[in-house]
Amino acid sequence: MSPFVWFSQCMHLPETARTEERIIMEETLEQILRNYTQTDLNIITILQDIENIFGYIPEEAVYWFSRKLDIPASRFFGTATFYSQFHLKPRGKNIITVCRGTACHVKGSERLINRLRLELDIPNDDDTSSDSRFTLEKVNCIGACGIAPVTIVNRQVHGNITLGKLMKQIKKIKSSE
Ligand code: FES
Repeated sequence: MSPFVWFSQCMHLPETARTEERIIMEETLEQILRNYTQTDLNIITILQDIENIFGYIPEEAVYWFSRKLDIPASRFFGTATFYSQFHLKPRGKNIITVCRGTACHVKGSERLINRLRLELDIPNDDDTSSDSRFTLEKVNCIGACGIAPVTIVNRQVHGNITLGKLMKQIKKIKSSE
């Protein structure tokens, strides 16, 4: 089981099982830490390792490194929130990204977002569906304005996307799981 899955599940486990999961998490974090020396510390690289392994940056991991390295947790959180590559909350299995930069906005990206929320059952104040199958992300211009509106479905870029084409892709994902 991937560390991401067990860490997510560990939040719902009874106390004894949670202790075991915590030990596994500590071992994973120790492994990341072994890649660095005190003189070679790079918060971004550590965060990238955490994100790669867990799929996001668990708060607990940040406080662990903060204690171990005697670096304020705020520096980790500050860096993690500055770069869009980092995520502070668990993400769904499928990531749907919609560009809402000016060109895409003019070509109807807001309509795509609203329809996706309904289709994927994602509330307005959240990004991920309650079953963790889908995360809807919004970005500000991915530099492909010539083919606006643009979406990225599980890392595949789709330009000149229409509501119909997008819903077809979502249905395909849903039926393949
Ligand atoms: S505004 Fe969407 S790609 Fe530039």
